[in-house]
Amino acid sequence: MLTLKRIDKNNDEFNLAYNIRLEVFTGEQNVPIGLLVDEFDKYAIQVAAYEDDMMAGCGRIVIDGKIGQIGRIAVLADKRKLGIGKLICEKLINIAIAEHNIDEVILNSQCSAQKFYEKLGFTAVGSVYIKAGIEHVDMRKKLR
Ligand SMILES: CC(C)(COP(=O)(O)OP(=O)(O)OC[C@H]1O[C@@H](n2cnc3c(N)ncnc32)[C@H](O)[C@@H]1OP(=O)(O)O)[C@@H](O)C(=O)NCCC(=O)NCCS
Repeated sequence: MLTLKRIDKNNDEFNLAYNIRLEVFTGEQNVPIGLLVDEFDKYAIQVAAYEDDMMAGCGRIVIDGKIGQIGRIAVLADKRKLGIGKLICEKLINIAIAEHNIDEVILNSQCSAQKFYEKLGFTAVGSVYIKAGIEHVDMRKKLR
């Protein structure tokens, strides 16, 4: 059974989320370990998806006024295309609306994930750029 759970940087579950970031971003994509966690993790809303008792994916949204920035969305390779990434993003946005009344969500999408975010209602803005050696494009979704 799939469940979504709010986690935070100060509990043990964040270590499991870190391991998913490590496997996905560093293991698969060669992102430097030093970029996996940053100062925003302390304040971000963090959500993890569990399949039964195993964490299968995670993500966060950082609040700045009425804008939420989604990031660090990662789903284990063998758990993809099952709707987990979508559920994580929707949960993050719903918590951010309920707690902070945000009116816009932004993110820096890897170009390989652009269609995934388009299906969630995001639109690309601006041109493609390189971050951590990976092609990205900025995306946004107005909520009202
Ligand atoms: C991108 C990622 C988070 C998507 O997670 P996921 O659990 O596989 O996505 P979902 O199953 O919820 O997909 C939702 C929809 O998007 C589609 N989709 C998912 N990934 C896609 C991709 N890379 N390209 C095109 N479509 C994609 C799915 O087919 C599904 O479409 P549907 O609703 O028509 O069936 C996952 O592939 C991942 O962790 N990738 C590596 C890390 C990464 O790139 N993170 C994003 C950083 S910006």
